[in-house]
Amino acid sequence: MNICVIGTGYVGLVTGVIFADLGNDVTCVDKIKEKIDSLNKGIMPIYEPGLEEMVKRNVVDNRLFFSTDLHGAVEKAEIIFICVGTPPKDNGETDLSYVEGAAKGIAKSINGYKIIVNKSTVPVGTGDFVRKVIEKNMTRNTDPSLRPAGTSFDVVSNPEFLREGSAIADALSPDRIIIGAPTKQVAVKLLELYATIGRPMLITDVYSAEIIKYASNAFLAMKISFINAIADICELTGANVTDVAKGVGYDSRIGQAFLNAGLGFGGSCFPKDIQSLVHTAEKFGYNFKLLKSILDINKKRVPHFVEIIKDKLVPAEPAPAVVSRGYKQGTGGLKGKIIGVLGLSFKPDTDDMRDAKSVEIINILLNEGAVIKAYDPVAMENAKKILPAVKYCANAYEVSEGADALVVITEWREFKLLNMERIKNLMHSPLIFDGRNIYDAERTRKMGFEYYSIGRP
Ligand code: UDX
Repeated sequence: MNICVIGTGYVGLVTGVIFADLGNDVTCVDKIKEKIDSLNKGIMPIYEPGLEEMVKRNVVDNRLFFSTDLHGAVEKAEIIFICVGTPPKDNGETDLSYVEGAAKGIAKSINGYKIIVNKSTVPVGTGDFVRKVIEKNMTRNTDPSLRPAGTSFDVVSNPEFLREGSAIADALSPDRIIIGAPTKQVAVKLLELYATIGRPMLITDVYSAEIIKYASNAFLAMKISFINAIADICELTGANVTDVAKGVGYDSRIGQAFLNAGLGFGGSCFPKDIQSLVHTAEKFGYNFKLLKSILDINKKRVPHFVEIIKDKLVPAEPAPAVVSRGYKQGTGGLKGKIIGVLGLSFKPDTDDMRDAKSVEIINILLNEGAVIKAYDPVAMENAKKILPAVKYCANAYEVSEGADALVVITEWREFKLLNMERIKNLMHSPLIFDGRNIYDAERTRKMGFEYYSIGRP
């Protein structure tokens, strides 16, 4: 099949390359010329394991193309995927201006029957919105009855559930494929496209498919906020949230996944999607208090963690005169303290800094006068643009040199495999604040560290 994918962000790029890999002719379109030029040179705009190899392979095989020419790509495509960004507005509502722009572009180029698929996460009713925008902007003929035969179209909702860091694997083997289509014939066309993947497919109406995406993300976010609230109770009572989560997760109705207590959820999806669903619910007269609580619990994770850090690091007595130790010292409660940060991206295996907890935590610690040294395996280039005051290091050992404390913010696998004896010897004082519970508390303390984690005694 000939496919056009509009938008070369996470969803668009991965969608495009997967369909190409499955044997289709795919053109990925983006209006940012530099992005397209880079992609044509084999340079990826994001870090995603396996993506670069797969893109290169399909470009060489002449199945995958990158272009700024929306018109040409739409004209030759049977199916057009809209994969543009849907950022939040200040009030939590989803900004559909990029979707609208894509729909207008499609409208101007339609030259025969097309299936237009919304793959971006969009609020219920966006399928109708896209249909209306296209109808209004079809230059060939605005009156449907007068349009030349064949210039009709259908709009489908086919939400994407891929996670950053495992996007290729998720897209090739999703738990389910949701196809919200207006008719059976249209659904069958999408079924054909996905047939080789061999995963469960569910055909629904367009509205239901749109809601399935938000309901899924909201449910997962609920699991995270739930276990984080339980972590707070564990801290107050002396229980261990890791054991509690394991015990709860053995119930097959609940499951082990997404019960890791920590600093809460970040990234480009959960926070904005939950807010969007709250907003949509309100629009329809429903006060979704449960979702508001999920956000509220999540918002309190970082301040709670920083309190633990400050409680241990800020001296009760007025701070003694600070010896510079080679760094320019700040003012504030943490003046004179050197804090090493492990992990900057919003989660492991990505360089994505959007809504990363590191930004919030580091900014508070900097404001309190601390010197921050940090290391992340792939996100440092992105982090430098947002956190210029941080001293970036080549690895976790360099971060540890002379540090008064280490703070674990992202649970990269390599941090679990560090030589902790070496880390201890490099630090000024062996103190660890583990925001992701990656170390065994007893073992770490036995090694001589003072160790604090989330929801564990
Ligand atoms: C998420 C959804 O999983 C995916 O289906 C959807 O398409 C997009 O949003 P993503 O944002 O890539 O994917 O990350 P995910 O792995 O779901 O993690 C989201 C956040 O939750 C991260 O900040 C992560 O650290 C946090 N998290 C996750 C926890 O705090 N605890 C957990 O147990 C799991």
